[in-house]
Amino acid sequence: MSAFQPNLHIASMDKLLIQGGVPLSGEIRISGAKNAALPILCAGLLTENVLTLTNVPHLHDVTTMLKLLGQMGMQVSLDEKKGLSLGGGNIHNPVAPYEMVKTMRASILVLGPLLARCGEARVSLPGGCAIGSRPVDLHIKGLQAMGAEIDIEHGYIVAHAKRLKGTRIFMDLVSVTGTENLMMAAALADGVTVIENAAREPEVVDLAVCLNEMGARVEGAGGDIITIHGVEKLHGASHHVIPDRIETGTYLVAAAACGGRVKVKDTRHDTLDAVLEKLREAGAHIELGEDWVEIERNGPLKAVNIRTAPHPAFPTDMQAQFMALNCIAAGSATIIETIFENRFMHVQELIRLGAGIETQGNTAVVRGVPRLDGATVMATDLRASASLVIAGLVAQGETTVERIYHIDRGYECIEEKLSQLGARIKRVH
Ligand code: EPZ
Repeated sequence: MSAFQPNLHIASMDKLLIQGGVPLSGEIRISGAKNAALPILCAGLLTENVLTLTNVPHLHDVTTMLKLLGQMGMQVSLDEKKGLSLGGGNIHNPVAPYEMVKTMRASILVLGPLLARCGEARVSLPGGCAIGSRPVDLHIKGLQAMGAEIDIEHGYIVAHAKRLKGTRIFMDLVSVTGTENLMMAAALADGVTVIENAAREPEVVDLAVCLNEMGARVEGAGGDIITIHGVEKLHGASHHVIPDRIETGTYLVAAAACGGRVKVKDTRHDTLDAVLEKLREAGAHIELGEDWVEIERNGPLKAVNIRTAPHPAFPTDMQAQFMALNCIAAGSATIIETIFENRFMHVQELIRLGAGIETQGNTAVVRGVPRLDGATVMATDLRASASLVIAGLVAQGETTVERIYHIDRGYECIEEKLSQLGARIKRVH
């Protein structure tokens, strides 16, 4: 077990047993952001020096990424105090094999850095996943615009580029990892790259901050036009990964659903405006501090309409959690999922708990019911799992959530953190 192999059991038989019906109270600490850590780990490929990272969450997806980078030649070492160190001095195998990519789509994030650093890459096309087809055409189009020669051979993206050239790229769709891949590729390109219609997510900003700490010249991250002045080389740096805004939002929704008073610490509230707004609208009272958010909900819950869209609008990664909240809120609400074509996998499972939900294409109508009743349900994807845990926490009686390896991909020690808040939850193998 390498130091970074957290003691999480990913056997698919793992289940969470939840006795619902208790309010939550207490404090928990938020971990580093999975969706910031994953691209930033790939940024380690862009330098032969050492990139040291702190606040990297202990998640299965991080372990998978470290394995993927390790088989390319990245030196990985973990020091509990100094954090995770990545040594990119000897990247001898610019390949991301299917066996690893199929378990984690974010593996596509090695494509841009490998092309920029090694001039070549062989990356398996990620398959589809539970929430949608999730193509990577915008990643490929952008790299081709920068001069890369890219073919698809036997399910692999085979890419070559002597040296990428800066250019203007318009993204047909807002793509988070598409923006991140191109930003990393452009960091070492010859000339200036302008990415228009760029993703504005805080995780894109954190990657830009890290790249600039490594000597890159990235301007405008957080806005929809990002300008990158290519440089010859990047050097090592130390970077502290931002807190996970989706983990933060998930615990806030759990507290609003169960009632009670919860404080989440080591987090930032300036990346969650849309979520905090909806929680207030649902009837929760929110206090904001320097690096904490406190939520209290004692009165009735009101159903809230949700429409997901790219940041700073309401995040798709919080849609399933709010659906669970709406299940037991007064009134009915409409949830429109505009980012992914199949992100309602949690609906059938919530209905097993007694929820009143009807879907029509990318729209779900949730009619609040007085209570949910515990049952056995099955997790299908990361955020759907979180939604089922929240529903289990409010349901009367026992809920068993199966296939929770999905949840271990994005939530560090979820049962420990919820137990700290008084939830009656335990993991069984
Ligand atoms: C990132 O996925 C996140 N993952 C997802 O979080 C998140 O749900 C998503 O952004 C949207 O916010 C990571 O950052 C590792 P996209 P990503 O490219 O980059 C379409 C979680 O739960 N598209 O922004 O893969 C795509 O199909 C995960 O932590 C293309 O058509 O999402 C989708 O409909 C789930 N062609 C839309 O754009 C492309 O080349 C947005 O996708 C790329 C994307």
